[in-house]
Amino acid sequence: MHPPTLLLLGSGELGKEVAISAKRLGCRVVAVDSYDHAPAMQVSDAREVIDMLHAPSLRRAVRRHVMPGEGFIVPEIEAIRTEELLALERRGYSVVPSARAANLTMNRDAIRDLAASRLRLPTARFAYAQSAAELQASITGKKGTGLPAVVKPVMSSSGKGQSDVKCAGDIAAAWDYAVSSMRGDRPRVIAEEFIDFDYEITLLTIRQRPIVAGKRVPEARRTLFVRPIGHRQERGDYQESWMPCPMKPALVRAARRMARTITAEIAGPSGAGLFGVEFFVRGNGVIFSELSPRPHDTGMVTMISQDLSEFDLHVRAILGLPIPPIRYEKAAASAVILSPGPIAGPPDFPGVEKALAAPGVQVRLFGKPSARKYRRMGVALAVGPSAAAARKAATRAASLVRVVPRVTPKAARRAR
Ligand SMILES: Nc1ncnc2c1ncn2[C@@H]1O[C@H](COP(=O)(O)OP(=O)(O)O)[C@@H](O)[C@H]1O
Ligand SMILES: [Mg+2]
Repeated sequence: MHPPTLLLLGSGELGKEVAISAKRLGCRVVAVDSYDHAPAMQVSDAREVIDMLHAPSLRRAVRRHVMPGEGFIVPEIEAIRTEELLALERRGYSVVPSARAANLTMNRDAIRDLAASRLRLPTARFAYAQSAAELQASITGKKGTGLPAVVKPVMSSSGKGQSDVKCAGDIAAAWDYAVSSMRGDRPRVIAEEFIDFDYEITLLTIRQRPIVAGKRVPEARRTLFVRPIGHRQERGDYQESWMPCPMKPALVRAARRMARTITAEIAGPSGAGLFGVEFFVRGNGVIFSELSPRPHDTGMVTMISQDLSEFDLHVRAILGLPIPPIRYEKAAASAVILSPGPIAGPPDFPGVEKALAAPGVQVRLFGKPSARKYRRMGVALAVGPSAAAARKAATRAASLVRVVPRVTPKAARRAR
């Protein structure tokens, strides 16, 4: 039998690690993205540069590399024409974890409606708006979220277009900012009650195939969990994450119950893969926030915290391979390396030697071909005797790595 093909829709840093995990198990990997030289393309067998929101281009790329019943379509980002994935799935193609999961999580409203209205998971109060006036009503109106609130485009990720609304005077600016930074052509935002949480976590949740290594998996064992990951966000974007994240057992159970319910629902009867399920914890309450039907950025800490990273787990779940209990380090952390501003070509990373000199520290540079302000260019990983120590080590390593324009030999000669 020839090795299975994984067609990655999205070729960022998470896709790159999925590609590496899949290559280690002998898969053929095709990396797709809207720009060339994307991180996952650098470690794949083939690549496609297409607009993944354009259905015919997406269909052509899929047909060129995978066949119905053979190989897997693995979405790595949200901005994909997911209706096309639904159509491909109907024709026998295998979408990870399912086309419905990709479709429901493409926009914040679909998944929020499912979680809150159908599955009755506790969430922040929320309302949608399609104009500045509607946004005003959805925050300050009788059935509104109240103040303070958080406003996000329904189509966005990594904090793009997200802002805090502290008073009614902030609403117009929040609308303009959301609309200017959203994807798609449908101006629509979600307003959420601001949750003053004690901490927030990602619960990596694995949905296994109904049959693993030839054996039927009982429903109770279909869903597996990684220990909760604590994380800190700025501008709606992840800055650092760590394990362990101490949490009362009853709260872990509550989060697991919710994660199991929603992932089983959207994966469908035979869907498999890893999910990042996000929760806010406040007092004795666990509040569902959102989920990704794929590895999560805060889960990059699993590259150092344990023997099977979230990428390994995703690939094993996709291929229907066994997942024995995970072995964990005592404590581990990750901290992002961001670009301070726009850089036209591939940057240089002075200071990386210093960062790598510390024991227990690793650095991953993603190889992105250019940068813009706050673009994530790498991540520092560290283990330590405690989560606090690991966070300190990872943050220090990340701060040592600078992201600067590359000085070509020619420019250096000119400068002399
Ligand atoms: N209702 C809220 N209350 C408090 N903080 C929030 C709320 N919604 C989002 N945030 C903060 O912003 C971050 C990003 O929001 P999220 O909904 O996860 O969007 P994204 O899809 O960009 O990750 C969250 O991890 C959290 O720190
Ligand atoms: Mg999030």
